[in-house]
Amino acid sequence: MDQSADTNAAIWQSGEVVQTWTAETEQRERGQVAQRRLMAVLLPFGEQEAFTFLDLGAGTGAASRAILSRYPRSTAILADFSSGMMSAGEQAMQPFAGRYQYVEFDMSASGWPAAIPAALDAVVTSLCVHHLPDDRKQGLFTEIFEHLVPGGWYLNYDPVRAEDPVVEAAWQRANDHDDPEAASKRLNRTPQEQARWDNHVRYMIPLRQQLDYLRSAGFHGIDVYWKHLENVIYGGYRPG
Ligand SMILES: C[S@@+](CC[C@H](N)C(=O)[O-])C[C@H]1O[C@@H](n2cnc3c(N)ncnc32)[C@H](O)[C@@H]1O
Repeated sequence: MDQSADTNAAIWQSGEVVQTWTAETEQRERGQVAQRRLMAVLLPFGEQEAFTFLDLGAGTGAASRAILSRYPRSTAILADFSSGMMSAGEQAMQPFAGRYQYVEFDMSASGWPAAIPAALDAVVTSLCVHHLPDDRKQGLFTEIFEHLVPGGWYLNYDPVRAEDPVVEAAWQRANDHDDPEAASKRLNRTPQEQARWDNHVRYMIPLRQQLDYLRSAGFHGIDVYWKHLENVIYGGYRPG
């Protein structure tokens, strides 16, 4: 992959894209309630337990809000590299004021900011790891492992690429069946939609490769905890 063609930062730091993303919030989040809830309940905490988790590539905080809602004594650190997404997030996160903090962090570099504690109880990522080149996916998983306390969990909710074109076509058939407008949307993208799509798929890789990265980083308890077509939730924990 020619990384000079990487438009990820330009896309997520564009006011226009942030505006489109926030305008689509209600519809998008309605379709993700079950996945958000599952990520929250997979974490090994009692409902009244106090703990701190990190949400990387947090955007407007959808994953954090699900966890903060389920665990009223938890606190969140939300990291992102888009000031537009973070300021939109400040509004969406209002109900949790005092229990969260945004930190600026570009995950394409390996130097984690000091504002992220060295020992975290859990780390989550959603819909963002696929924006990183493979060496950074792998590096990030190792860095996450190193920032977790023993027993700490990492969960990732993300789309993956099919290894087999026949499987990819089957996923597309099923998606088109669920959304009768999908095929026409695919064929009639605006330039902004096409740029977002190109960015969406640029570094998307098969699930197996990502589970290998988790294993190499040292995680145990690795599983695909949920999967529907191209969308998965996988993760594991740092052994004690
Ligand atoms: C599709 S949105 C997902 C946001 C949120 N995690 C969610 O599930 O709704 C992708 C987010 O990842 C962030 N992002 C993409 N690449 C990043 C990078 N290299 N470093 C930090 N954040 C990044 C974007 O700014 C954006 O907020």
